[in-house]
Amino acid sequence: MLADHALHTRSTVRREQAPFGSRTEGAIQAHEMPTTKPDAPDLDLRSPANLRDPYPVHRELRDHDPVHWSEGLQGWIVTRYADVLEVFNRPTRFSSERFRKLAPRFRSDRPEVHAVASVLSDWLVFRDPPDHTRLRDLLQKTFTPRHLEKNRDGIQITIDSLLDRAAGRGEMDFIRDFAFPLPAIVIAILLGARKDDIEDIKLWSDRLAAHVGGAVDGRDNFSEAKAGLDELVGYFRTLLAQRSRRSGDDLMSLLLRAEHEGERLSEEEVISNCVLLLFAGHETTTNLLGNGLFHLLRDPERERELRAQPQLVGRAVEEFLRIECPVAATIKVALEDFEWHGARIQRGERLIPFMASANRDPRQFERPDSLDIARHPNRHLTFGYGIHFCLGAPLARLEAQLAFDTLLRRFPHLLLSDPEPRWKPQVFMRGLETLPLRLQA
Ligand code: HEM
Repeated sequence: MLADHALHTRSTVRREQAPFGSRTEGAIQAHEMPTTKPDAPDLDLRSPANLRDPYPVHRELRDHDPVHWSEGLQGWIVTRYADVLEVFNRPTRFSSERFRKLAPRFRSDRPEVHAVASVLSDWLVFRDPPDHTRLRDLLQKTFTPRHLEKNRDGIQITIDSLLDRAAGRGEMDFIRDFAFPLPAIVIAILLGARKDDIEDIKLWSDRLAAHVGGAVDGRDNFSEAKAGLDELVGYFRTLLAQRSRRSGDDLMSLLLRAEHEGERLSEEEVISNCVLLLFAGHETTTNLLGNGLFHLLRDPERERELRAQPQLVGRAVEEFLRIECPVAATIKVALEDFEWHGARIQRGERLIPFMASANRDPRQFERPDSLDIARHPNRHLTFGYGIHFCLGAPLARLEAQLAFDTLLRRFPHLLLSDPEPRWKPQVFMRGLETLPLRLQA
């Protein structure tokens, strides 16, 4: 029997209603300590050791308790590949409406929580069919391969100019100087924001990320998120007023014009989904770039292999996505009572599929803990699966392929200055805080 799981009981203390987990939950449910055996493993994914390296916990749960009640995260952690896939594949059992369909005992009456939920609940990622179908169809019409291809040169120019600045110095913090600004600039420009506003936008988005990423760094996630969200909504409202007067070719203008069976998005829906695109297209890709480069530079043989065969960059990016999943987990809500691997799940409870664990499940992948930049096939679940499969996956892939290709071409010598960089203190997102490098052109 596993330590924190002994009775499968669920406390009835009021829980905050968080999209991807929250600091506040942590405050209510103090550290998830082993309760039965003193030598039992610490299964709390929010503890400092497990934030640094969550993979031993994932392995333990996959092998011994694949649907595990976590008191700290207030949900059922799902860790095996086949089960994570099942969660994504059965929207009639596993709802994405984590605000509307959560059991009342898990809800909060704090005004900040409601304010955040009212905007986030318009995001298509938090809606079930038929609302999801309508929103997805509208967004898909704007997020086309043609639109993406038109932006390829712009992305390359941004990559080159960020690297030019670093090259002159001979060193850089890869996160601060490259992995953070690149996706932020790209998505902000796609949405039609002005270049001069990007610093502000990054700051607001980061405050929202504190909540959505499930930060455990001492900030009050809901107040942070609300402050960031208010600024972003205000910003996009102004942009929308300008678009109503003069439409352009940016995503916001396309969203305003898109139609699904004669219906259009309301202005509130356009604003809310612009915030989603900005948010979803930003920290996720930062993590992909940082995590990928970290794994590559830690493994000189793989680095040599990729330098010798640059045509492998597409597969290498898939492997970076698999081995260090930038979004470690997501949340769904049970729509019915059912039993699963011995666990009794009740309607309205949260399920937390861990893509980061599924991606290292030996039942699916050979040598799952090793980086294999030529791995094929590589059916990782990093972008989710099924009806909510990430809409921005082609953009994230394009940015990462261009970035790694350019980086390796321009710098024959890239060295990690710190072999043990710090991970961000988040459970649901997975990324490095800093990645100092020395470069030689
Ligand atoms: C490495 C980068 C990225 C990762 C790992 C990632 C991951 C994910 C995951 C796991 C989901 C499904 C969530 C769920 O089912 O609960 C998702 C959905 C989504 N992502 Fe991404 N994402 C990335 C980049 C992007 C980018 C660049 C954009 C847009 C600019 C984007 C926009 C979206 C949208 C709109 C959805 C909702 C789709 C729907 O509900 O139908 N993502 N993403």
